[in-house]
Amino acid sequence: MPRAIIVGASSGVGAALARELHNQGYVIALLGRRLPELQHLANELNQLRRGTVAAYAHNVHVTAGIPELCRTICAQIGGLDLFVYCAGVMYPNNPATHDTDADLEMLQTNLLGAVAWLNEVAPRMQSAGSGQIVGIGSIAGDRGRRGIPAYSASKAGLHTYLEAMRNRLSRHGVTVTTIKLWQVQTAMLANADRVIQPASPQLAARLIWRAIRHKRQVVYVPGRWAAAGLVLQHLPSFIFRRLSL
Ligand SMILES: NC(=O)c1ccc[n+]([C@@H]2O[C@H](COP(=O)([O-])OP(=O)(O)OC[C@H]3O[C@@H](n4cnc5c(N)ncnc54)[C@H](OP(=O)(O)O)[C@@H]3O)[C@@H](O)[C@H]2O)c1
Repeated sequence: MPRAIIVGASSGVGAALARELHNQGYVIALLGRRLPELQHLANELNQLRRGTVAAYAHNVHVTAGIPELCRTICAQIGGLDLFVYCAGVMYPNNPATHDTDADLEMLQTNLLGAVAWLNEVAPRMQSAGSGQIVGIGSIAGDRGRRGIPAYSASKAGLHTYLEAMRNRLSRHGVTVTTIKLWQVQTAMLANADRVIQPASPQLAARLIWRAIRHKRQVVYVPGRWAAAGLVLQHLPSFIFRRLSL
């Protein structure tokens, strides 16, 4: 059975992806700070296939603990074929806010935690000559958004970091997939300034699984927002600045 770690699996997209991967036959380690939620999901999935899902309490800010945790989990689930970094926070979209603590939390959770995890996962997969890394980014990382500067910077940083890891690892047989999510109906959406046709977490998870299965590099989810992403990326700055985005 293939083995996966999902960091940020206690709710929303990560929990839906855990269900999808379990459906596809994976053994999974679920990580996040809220152990009761993770344990509840693990119990639910273990009722379908015993002993296939384990929950681990983990705060990605505690980077010093990541090397040992990664080794422990890989030993317990018997290796690692797929690593998904889904942990993320977004504070309310508000152009009037200047809050260093909130900004640093977003950068630490959305970007720096991914760096700390991938420094463990990447060499492991590189020496195995196989494996897949998936980072959950956002269409908000394609441009600097005035209401969420640190969030969009964290996701832009994640996209660029994943591209660099792809360039480093593809020659060693490791696939790196960047998911640029459109809005998804999760708790995080309460902090958006407006909600436009959000996808369900189940649909997002199905499309992320499709990107994993096809070893895609960069994928907008849902795919119909790829054109919007392309237009936004290429809009001249003097126009983008006038939009209320
Ligand atoms: N929903 C959207 O519209 C949308 C759009 C674009 C991108 N995204 C991205 O999708 C990903 C999943 O978000 P979601 O929408 O599913 O929201 P969510 O339900 O709030 O899930 C966020 C996940 O991140 C984990 N997390 C947050 N801080 C953490 C920390 N310090 N340490 C470990 N885990 C942490 C949470 O677990 P604990 O609280 O248990 O720690 C939770 O499992 C995020 O990266 C988000 O930026 C979402």
